[in-house]
Amino acid sequence: MISRRLFIENIIKTLGISAFSAGLIDRLIVNSLTYAQNNDLSLKNRAAAKGLFYGAASFKRVLSYPDFSKTFIEECGILVPEWELKWRALRPTPTSYDFNAFDWLINFTSKNNMKFRGHTLVWHDDLPAWFSNTVNSSNAKKYLQDHILTVMKRHAGKIHSWDVVNEPIAMWDKHPDGLRASSPWYKLLGPEYIEIAFRTASEADPNAMLVLNQNHLEQDKDDGTRSSVLKLLKRLKFTGTPIHALGIESHLGGKDYSFNKSKFKAFLSNVADIGLKIIITELDVMDQYMPKDISLRDKMVANIYEEYLSTALSESAVIGVLTWGLSDRYTWLSKFAPREDKAQVRPLPLDQNLQRKLAWYSIANAFDNTRAR
Ligand code: XIL
Repeated sequence: MISRRLFIENIIKTLGISAFSAGLIDRLIVNSLTYAQNNDLSLKNRAAAKGLFYGAASFKRVLSYPDFSKTFIEECGILVPEWELKWRALRPTPTSYDFNAFDWLINFTSKNNMKFRGHTLVWHDDLPAWFSNTVNSSNAKKYLQDHILTVMKRHAGKIHSWDVVNEPIAMWDKHPDGLRASSPWYKLLGPEYIEIAFRTASEADPNAMLVLNQNHLEQDKDDGTRSSVLKLLKRLKFTGTPIHALGIESHLGGKDYSFNKSKFKAFLSNVADIGLKIIITELDVMDQYMPKDISLRDKMVANIYEEYLSTALSESAVIGVLTWGLSDRYTWLSKFAPREDKAQVRPLPLDQNLQRKLAWYSIANAFDNTRAR
């Protein structure tokens, strides 16, 4: 056991920041017993100790950098490619596939004893330029099925889970059932495109967990996303569609961030009642509108992580967590949600120098404090 003073100094040194509020120090102190003794325990090991998995999204390019790759292997038990398995990356032409990055990434996870998540087979976004002139209502089903069969069979048996359909429910521009009206797949095949995709996926790799991945389910906004996704999941179960889990993206923070613990818990338990597992698939916290002061910003981000994850993990159907990136050095938000003051965004567990931030401790806390599966 180390003294309270030493512990604080330790944290300050580790985090590289010097201003803590009394409340925050107290909160860290409350949890100091675990950290004082197990500071070397990574997030993947903390998660695994509870029968959960933790990992992150990344790219082939950045996993080739030795310092980043070393840290990634230490912290992550599962990898999801952020870009390389999307149609635009995999399909240079209507008749060809570029599997170079996929093969490299599978080799990386096998070598490092890591699980692999596939993302994503059917999405309205990031389709190749040739798609709109080539795919029409007479050949769409064949394109969809050929793509799923070819991509999934490539490494069948080595994939933990696949995001078979991504973001099918829309907040705006939607049909009465909530399905995204602008999706080319919906336009070409109607709502059945979802069943077709899952059935084909189950044939291609019967061992993979098949996931429907959805955004905008976390915040307390009355836009119908939660009820639409529940209806869709019930419909899929009712028609005997092979689907095993709901992926909840969890891009948190942003303008007017609001979170209602009890409503979110009720939603998770509704999903569990349908007989599905839940994965937190793309967790990060946007700090776009937070104050510039780094210590304050990190604290706000960390609080959001802790509140959200402790709530999510209280539902036993939640089996794992992935953040959308590991270090602030490589995050999509620096491009997609930059700050007006041009300060570097800080949405992830590790900072630009791969050092642990308060967010890291919040995630660690949430794993440590949840019950074992
Ligand atoms: C994002 C990637 O992070 C970016 O690098 C890419 O350019 C666009 O897509 N929901 C998803 C992810 O399901 O695929 C998105 O990833 C982020 C939002």
